[in-house]
Amino acid sequence: MKKVVFMAILFAVFCVFGGEKMNETTKTIFNRKSVRNYVETTVAPETLEFLVKAGMAAPSAMDRRPWEFIIINDKAVVKKLNDALPHAKMAEKAGYAIVVAGNIEKQAGGKDANFWIMDCSAAAQNILLAAESLGLGAVWTAVYPSAERVKPVVEILGLPANIVPLAFIPVGKPSGADKPKDKFDKTRIHWNHWTGKANPGK
Ligand SMILES: Cc1cc2nc3c(=O)[nH]c(=O)nc-3n(C[C@H](O)[C@H](O)[C@H](O)COP(=O)(O)O)c2cc1C
Repeated sequence: MKKVVFMAILFAVFCVFGGEKMNETTKTIFNRKSVRNYVETTVAPETLEFLVKAGMAAPSAMDRRPWEFIIINDKAVVKKLNDALPHAKMAEKAGYAIVVAGNIEKQAGGKDANFWIMDCSAAAQNILLAAESLGLGAVWTAVYPSAERVKPVVEILGLPANIVPLAFIPVGKPSGADKPKDKFDKTRIHWNHWTGKANPGK
């Protein structure tokens, strides 16, 4: 018993002071992957709304929140988008999707006019992470800025002129075939100033 308590304390000390800072949040971040292989499932409307709620928790420049979310759980609409978008052919199998779109009327003008792209991107990433955390799969497929991709999405979803679709995110149950990548690259970290090469230390 004493040994178990000692090991537990040792583990806790390692977690707090050790190099790795793994917790539920960071685990989700590192386990997220683009899921392109799905098995059939049912995703409840409340779950899809929860993903969008996570999207709306994203940071937003000047807190303008210039985003709109179109949840698609009608298989016929998913299929139309699947067929129209050349790089989203996993959508039909996924069965569900969320379009993250910018609302240009809610956006600041002038030099701040492009912030909707960053805000909606942050929202899209939150959706991907929330999906991962719930055991669902998702993948960001690009719509904006490609005019050829924006056009069919606008037409199929009946979007008005002030709503620009940024990302089409198929959502469903992952088959397990897609795995997270280890992308850590120390040479891309630069401490305090640009060195042009891997920085030797902190
Ligand atoms: C802006 C953006 C656009 C993307 N567009 C597509 C796409 O159209 N189709 C697709 O299958 N994946 C798309 N992806 C997913 C990337 O291919 C994927 O993130 C990358 O290969 C890294 O893999 P990972 O997400 O599993 O880490 C996109 C990702 C981003 C951020």
